[in-house]
Amino acid sequence: MSTVRAPENIKAHIQKLYAKLAAHSSVNISSVPILCGEELARALGYDTSLLPIPQKAWSLFAGCGNPLGEIKLEQHWTVLDLGCGVGIDSQMAALALQPPGKVMGLDMTRELLHHAKKYSGFHSMCHWVTGDGEYLPLRSECIDLVTANGSFNLMPHKEKALEEIHRVLKPGGYLSLADLIAVGEMEPIVEGFEEAWSWCVAGALTPGEYDGLIGSTGFMWWELKEKEGYGPLAAANLLAQKSPRD
Ligand SMILES: C[S@@+](CC[C@H](N)C(=O)[O-])C[C@H]1O[C@@H](n2cnc3c(N)ncnc32)[C@H](O)[C@@H]1O
Repeated sequence: MSTVRAPENIKAHIQKLYAKLAAHSSVNISSVPILCGEELARALGYDTSLLPIPQKAWSLFAGCGNPLGEIKLEQHWTVLDLGCGVGIDSQMAALALQPPGKVMGLDMTRELLHHAKKYSGFHSMCHWVTGDGEYLPLRSECIDLVTANGSFNLMPHKEKALEEIHRVLKPGGYLSLADLIAVGEMEPIVEGFEEAWSWCVAGALTPGEYDGLIGSTGFMWWELKEKEGYGPLAAANLLAQKSPRD
């Protein structure tokens, strides 16, 4: 796992970057050329016609996978979208739910949550919370599914973040997490330490590190599926379940 230097600086840098994204409506705000917005969502398998949201909202989508495509949601579930950004996955999840089912979209970047609120008015089931994934402002065992799309990678204290996910999950609850993982020798493809964290490079775990972390957090079973490769990085989806007896 990468050495973590000054985690608070990393978080502050990430927050600044995503606030800039919220202001400029484009993820191409760095030297890194990446697919973004609705085009990215379609490439990842999203049916973008399902959400009646403007282009501005799509342009703020910054996921790296389609974690909801990996699991069938039950209508009554409470879903936590961790690092929800503009809330595309939160809103997609809400489409599959019926009251008392609900979605909580949580993010540390207020500027993105502002847009999530603004563009999700048609979903009364979505609730938006400002918070840090490493210190979830939620009681234990209240969530059926935690989903995260491109945010886990950005958390410097991954053990703490996973412990928090495990704590808030109900017994038998699921985690579906889309992330970038390290599959090869990491070259300096992005300049600067904080920049490398922000672009999911420095915080990427290897599959072995993932296994070790998930196993030690106490999940009953898990599966890490590697998807698209991007040089030394690969998109992957982790599906895990908490023991029903915990
Ligand atoms: C790559 S973006 C993905 C956003 C969203 N999931 C999507 O698919 O569009 C990563 C998001 O994670 C959030 N994030 C990063 N670290 C976080 C943390 N420790 N706690 C809460 N949110 C965090 C960022 O603010 C940003 O909105």
